[in-house]
Amino acid sequence: MSKVTTLLVEEAEKLHRLIDYHNHRYFVLDDPEISDAEYDRLFDQLIQLEKDHPELRTSDSPTQRIGGAVLKSFKSVPHRLPMLSLNKANEENEFLDFHRRILELSEVAEDHIEYTIEPKYDGLAVELIYEKGILTTGLTRGDGTMGEEVTSNLKTIGAIPLRLQSEDNTPSLLEVRGEVLLSKNDFEKLNESRLDKGEEAFANPRNAAAGAVRQLNSAVTASRPLDFVAYGIGIVEGSKIDSQNLLWRYLYRWGFKTPEPAYLCADRNAVIEKYHRILANRESHSFEIDGTVVKLDNFALRKKVGELSRSPRWAVAWKFPPSQEQTAVEDIIVSVGRTGALTPIAILKPVRVGGVTVGRATLHNEDELKRKDVRIGDTVIIQRAGDVIPEVVKVIIGRRTGDEREFLMPEKCPICGAGTERLEVQAATRCTNVACPAKQKEYISHFISRAAMDIDGLGYKIAEQMLDRGIIKDAADLYFLTKENLLDMERMGDKLAQNIIEAIDKSRHPSLKSLIFALGIPNVGGHLAAVLAKQYGSIDEISTKSIEDFMSVNEIGPIVAKAISDYFQEKKNKEFLIRLKAGGVSFPFEKKRLSELPLSGKTFVLTGTLSLFSREEAKEKLELLGAKVSSSVSNKTDFVIAGENPGSKLAKARQSGVSIRDESWLKELFENNGYLPKKY
Ligand code: IVH
Repeated sequence: MSKVTTLLVEEAEKLHRLIDYHNHRYFVLDDPEISDAEYDRLFDQLIQLEKDHPELRTSDSPTQRIGGAVLKSFKSVPHRLPMLSLNKANEENEFLDFHRRILELSEVAEDHIEYTIEPKYDGLAVELIYEKGILTTGLTRGDGTMGEEVTSNLKTIGAIPLRLQSEDNTPSLLEVRGEVLLSKNDFEKLNESRLDKGEEAFANPRNAAAGAVRQLNSAVTASRPLDFVAYGIGIVEGSKIDSQNLLWRYLYRWGFKTPEPAYLCADRNAVIEKYHRILANRESHSFEIDGTVVKLDNFALRKKVGELSRSPRWAVAWKFPPSQEQTAVEDIIVSVGRTGALTPIAILKPVRVGGVTVGRATLHNEDELKRKDVRIGDTVIIQRAGDVIPEVVKVIIGRRTGDEREFLMPEKCPICGAGTERLEVQAATRCTNVACPAKQKEYISHFISRAAMDIDGLGYKIAEQMLDRGIIKDAADLYFLTKENLLDMERMGDKLAQNIIEAIDKSRHPSLKSLIFALGIPNVGGHLAAVLAKQYGSIDEISTKSIEDFMSVNEIGPIVAKAISDYFQEKKNKEFLIRLKAGGVSFPFEKKRLSELPLSGKTFVLTGTLSLFSREEAKEKLELLGAKVSSSVSNKTDFVIAGENPGSKLAKARQSGVSIRDESWLKELFENNGYLPKKY
């Protein structure tokens, strides 16, 4: 082991400070003083020094930003103070209501009330805990009470100081709260490069940020261009901060980015004015923002007005109205979803709405199309609210020239040419062909998604390519793929192919609820999938049930009951399930809640040799039905199952008058409850 001299410690510390300084100039101030190459040189020097003398590697060393720690799962950690959410105001009136409540509760004169206003960021809220100025823990907001520990991931974010920069007023304990974000620019670049690599694009910066922070491998987090803005605090010890505007200044000195623009407002009129200013400039900000947050500036007053269980009374999120824009409908097309539903879509002359370019907007379904009477050639108002798919609000009838063309839902599926049908009770028009390729594409993207089979590394684009080239014909084929099959594809490297194969392999043991959800039964979303899993405990069990059975389940109505029953009747689907199994996908059996099970409260004892089942199997099945299986006969025993050559247990059972049954009784019991012997 090397001997670390004071000199070495000083050298490391000097490098450490220098790198921190340049890191801050680059990531927080966006104003670097040295070239990337020079920065890398300093960094390499520190890496080398720490390699030679590992004792110099402190938890706040800049080298800890590289990432690489791989976790099995995240630790759940309580927040010392709950991380609350915000009440919303959508209009000026609602902001004024908020103001009036503050006046009542604070009991101070109106001219003593000052507010701050800052952008409301749309990212992932986190809490950073600094002990004696050093970042020791980073947590996600989680449910507000408990968060997930993601320290090593957050350390990879350049805009998060690993130690507080200024030593002036350093608290002994500081909890900084803020938002992990991606700038609009970085988000677009990230998506382009993902599409290039055949990976799926993220829907919005928030999803990209949240996905990156909740990575078990911190090297993945490090590879995403994440940013951080600090806007609040939890517990602070050893430092006095008594207002939001003072907090901004401290946070800035400690090395954080703070909200921009941010204003201290002397009264409610100033708030209204600044709200409109931020709204007018929303497109010019580097981060996507969906509103403002208005907060009482003075912390003592905050305390006085207090908080409700979920949200404080001293702050409000004053949202922006959905962005609307006017444009022309150049065409109307239909897209076919995984359930075969035909969705009419307006193809628009591209316009920028709320910071993104929009070229299409959904018209939902035939009824909506008729209600809004949208025609090809119309001038329309479209709107985008947050990350919701843009939609057509209304037609500007006054702009009609008479050349507009009406659109009728097609009688043939635009993808496969099969007939379409619309059931009376439903809004959707559907393609009737079970094997419609459009359904397959949409279906695969559903099948591989997180909440379904969770085949992480396989992006939608790759799956789509595989279908196009006939490498797979449907989702079950994924489980028969070899690396060689994949390597036949363009832009497929050895490493990516290996990752895909591993990801597919990992998905072979889904939970029952995920498996049911993955089947894509029309109208069976994540929630109903969980209901079915809990009610029936296995796919085998569900597949034997009738429409009436399903309808007796709370939450399931006639349409869904028919959809589930239809799904399991359909020959193609039966084959699909068989192929999934053959491809190595396990179909789990899950215990139902004990009190609901047919053998709940009954205790069994097995004795002698069974011929149809192994002991293990019989025990497992009895337990699945809610029974307890015990190894010896007592006054709690309800049944003894006697096989060939039973031992003393049988004699004991006879003495104490316990019911004795044989294996065929057991087999019948299992069959009646939907469990067949494995040998069957
Ligand atoms: S202050 C008591 N300031 O909005 C909560 N929150 O809806 C105080 N958010 O979970 C939060 N920008 O993630 C605050 N400038 C800002 C914010 C902000 C975004 C988020 C935050 C919170 C959510 C509440």
